[in-house]
Amino acid sequence: MDFRLTEEQQMIRRTAREFAERELAPVAIELDKTGEFPWDNWHKMAKQGFVGMTLSPEYGGGGAGLLEFTLVLEELSRVCASTAVILEVHNSLHAETIEHFGTPEQKQKWLPDLATGKKLGAFALTEPNAGSDSAAQQSTAVLKGDHYVLNGLKCFITSGSKADLYLVMAMTDKSKGNKGITAFVVEKDRKGVSFGLPEDKMGIRASIQTDLILEDVEVPVENRLGAEGDGFKIAMTALDSGRIGIGAQALGIAQAALDASVAYAKQRVQFGKPIAELQAIQWKLAEMATDIDAARLLLYRAAWLRDQGGRVSKEIAMAKLFCAQVAMRHTVEAVQIHGGNGYMREYKVERYMRDAKITQIYEGTSEVMKLIIASSLLR
Ligand code: CAA
Repeated sequence: MDFRLTEEQQMIRRTAREFAERELAPVAIELDKTGEFPWDNWHKMAKQGFVGMTLSPEYGGGGAGLLEFTLVLEELSRVCASTAVILEVHNSLHAETIEHFGTPEQKQKWLPDLATGKKLGAFALTEPNAGSDSAAQQSTAVLKGDHYVLNGLKCFITSGSKADLYLVMAMTDKSKGNKGITAFVVEKDRKGVSFGLPEDKMGIRASIQTDLILEDVEVPVENRLGAEGDGFKIAMTALDSGRIGIGAQALGIAQAALDASVAYAKQRVQFGKPIAELQAIQWKLAEMATDIDAARLLLYRAAWLRDQGGRVSKEIAMAKLFCAQVAMRHTVEAVQIHGGNGYMREYKVERYMRDAKITQIYEGTSEVMKLIIASSLLR
C-alpha cells in the first residue's frame, strides 16, 4: 500500500493550487458579493485543461482519472467553491455521463465542445416534489413519431440559464416507477425551454441555480441517452461520480478554514501572547487537522476505487458524508477561532461556513448518504 501521490498527481495538485491562487483568489470575494456568474474563471479553467479533464482524448478531453480531477476540485474549492461546483457539474454529472452512456454519434456530436468548454453542461434531475426522492419525477416525455415532447419543471439547476446543454430526466412510463424514467440531452435553444430567476442563496453565490422550465419541448429520438427506462440508473451513476466531486469541494473548503485559522492564531495576540499558544486553540486546530486528514483518506480511496471500475456507492457515500460533516463542523470552528473578526465579511471564514453548508445537501443529503451506507450493510 502506498499513500503517496505519484509525481504526476503532485504536479496536477501544484498546478491547480497555483492556478487557484493566481486566477481565482483575486476575484473570489467580489464574486461572492455580486453573485455574478464567473465566465472569466470558466474560460481560464478551459484554457488550463481542467474542463473536460476526465473525458477521453478521442473527444478532446484530458484522459485523467477521477482521483486527479478530485485533486483539482479540492484545490479550486480551497479558494472559490462556486467556481469549483460549476466545473464539477459540467464534467462529472453532464459530460462524463454522455461519454459513459452515449452512442458514438452522440459522443461525437456533444463531447468535443464540452471538452473544450465551448459549451457548458448542466444536470436536471431535481423537481419541487422530487428532491431526495428522485424517483418521484413528474416531468414527462411522450414519444410522438421521431421525437419526444417534454414537459416539466426542474429546480435548483446548477448553471441553470447559463448552460448550453441539459441532461434532463423525465418519465416516459409512470406505471413503472423508477424504471419509467428516461434521460435526454436538451439543447438550450429548443422552443419551449425557459428559465426562472437565479436563486438568492446563502453560499456558493457565484454558481447560479435556476428553474429549468420545459413546455412542449420537442426533442429528437437521437437525443435520448440510453434506452427508455434507463434514466434513473444513469442519474445515480452520474451522482456517484458527482458525489466524489462534492466531497472534494467540502474538503477544499475545510482545508481553507484550517489554513486561515492557523495563520490567524499565530498573529492574533490576546492575553499578551499569540492565541496559538493557548491550549484551547491548539486543541481546535489539532482536531480540525485530524478530521481533514481522515476525510481526505476516505475521499481519495473512493476516487481511486471508482477509477478501478465497478460500483462503489457505499464508499462514495461514506466519503461525501464525512467530508461534508468535516467542512461544516470546522468552518464553524474557524469562525470561532477568529472571534468577532470571523463574523465579518472581511475575513474569509464566514464565506467558508456559508459555502460548506450546501455540501451536506446537494448531490444527495447527508441523510441520503447514510441511507445508501445502511442499505449496503443490511443487504
Ligand atoms: N448506480 C447504479 N444503479 C443504482 C445506483 C447507483 N449509484 N443507485 C441505485 N441504483 C439502482 C438500484 O440498483 C436499483 O436497481 P434495481 O431495481 O434494478 O435493483 C434502482 O436503481 C433503484 O434503487 P433504489 O431502490 O436504491 O432507489 P430509491 O428510490 O430507494 O432511491 C436514493 C435511492 C438513494 C434515495 C436516491 O433516490 C437518491 O440518491 N436520492 C438523492 C437524489 C440526489 O442526490 N439529488 C441530487 C440532485 S443533483 C444536484 O444536486 C446537482 C447540483 O446542483 C450540484
